[in-house]
Amino acid sequence: MAIEFQGVTKQYPDGTVAVDNLNLTVEDGTITVFVGPSGCGKTTSLRMINRMIEPTGGTVLLDGKDVRDSDPALLRRGIGYVIQHAGLFPHRTVLDNVATVPLLTGWDKSKARKRAAELLETVGLPAELGKRYPAQLSGGQQQRVGVARALAADSPVLLMDEPFSAVDPIVREELQDELLRLQTQLGKTIVFVTHDIDEAVRLGDKVAVMRVGGKLAQYGTPSDVLRHPVDDFVASFVGKDRGYRGLSFLSADDVEVKDAPKVEVGSTLSGPNSEWLIAVNDAGQPRGWLPPNSTVDGPISEASLVAGGSLYEQGTPIRGALDAALSSPASLGVVVDADHKVLGVVTARQVLDVIEGHPQAVNE
Ligand SMILES: Nc1ncnc2c1ncn2[C@@H]1O[C@H](COP(=O)(O)OP(=O)(O)OP(=O)(O)O)[C@@H](O)[C@H]1O
Ligand SMILES: [Mg+2]
Repeated sequence: MAIEFQGVTKQYPDGTVAVDNLNLTVEDGTITVFVGPSGCGKTTSLRMINRMIEPTGGTVLLDGKDVRDSDPALLRRGIGYVIQHAGLFPHRTVLDNVATVPLLTGWDKSKARKRAAELLETVGLPAELGKRYPAQLSGGQQQRVGVARALAADSPVLLMDEPFSAVDPIVREELQDELLRLQTQLGKTIVFVTHDIDEAVRLGDKVAVMRVGGKLAQYGTPSDVLRHPVDDFVASFVGKDRGYRGLSFLSADDVEVKDAPKVEVGSTLSGPNSEWLIAVNDAGQPRGWLPPNSTVDGPISEASLVAGGSLYEQGTPIRGALDAALSSPASLGVVVDADHKVLGVVTARQVLDVIEGHPQAVNE
């Protein structure tokens, strides 16, 4: 089932243009990956497919039909959707989580549970995990349950928003392999969102590189994008990144960690802040970001924070530092110590400069 974006724009009521005139076709039965730095409009683009977000301009077509002509609730039920941290219902067992959609579509309980059990097997989970609650599973297992639940919709379309970014790199590769294996059997139309170019080129039949401002920078096969980046932005996002894939052994010790603009949760701002601030708890651990010009009356609460990206633990391989910078809403990667206490911040530019200083390590 092909998905077509025709001149799709999303401007939020506050004026932010999250997606700007997106034109692109996701071919039937393929995996298309939307990749780009934090805030470039990936999630917004994805959610306009199942009408969790409505465009302010243009049209999204599913199988040639305008999605606006479908009832949003029915549309969503018919499209599998997986998010970071799996988004499982904490008070339902694993089996009941997976059975949710079949039950909603009117299946009786025993048939829905039987189907759910089959799906757990499909994603490589032992049947006995079905009785547990999500909190009793590892992060990787939870993500598999999330995939099983999305497959339960039995729809030809699957939307996946950074489904594997909260798990460690080894489990992440396992999950990627598993998805590729499943896809050879299922042949679904999958739209997958990530900020990780490695993941994008590994999984995607096609890769859509987006830039902040919601503009599509390049759309092509992984090899197109890697070999023929259309401009400097794609070259630096993809090209340098491609180089650093061989750099797992290089540590980021040469990257100067700058002082972090910090604020403590529970404290009160003395005036409007001009820059992004990392909000930390009393142990100095990051809880999220406070956007510039936040008008916080009274003590800063966790509810007023924007979720952060991945953290970079000092002394670990340099790709983590780049990941942290690219996934941060403030474009500043948060550097922490082994106790997850904030040490400071780095920018993607700083990391790339260090990588470029080691040309012998770049694997091209
Ligand atoms: N409800 C909203 N109101 C106003 N602006 C919003 C809203 N939701 C998102 N935005 C803005 O739209 C832009 C795109 O956001 P979106 O969530 O689509 O980005 P993303 O690429 O998924 O980022 P990330 O990698 O951090 O998940 C950002 O500037 C974001 O701040
Ligand atoms: Mg997002």
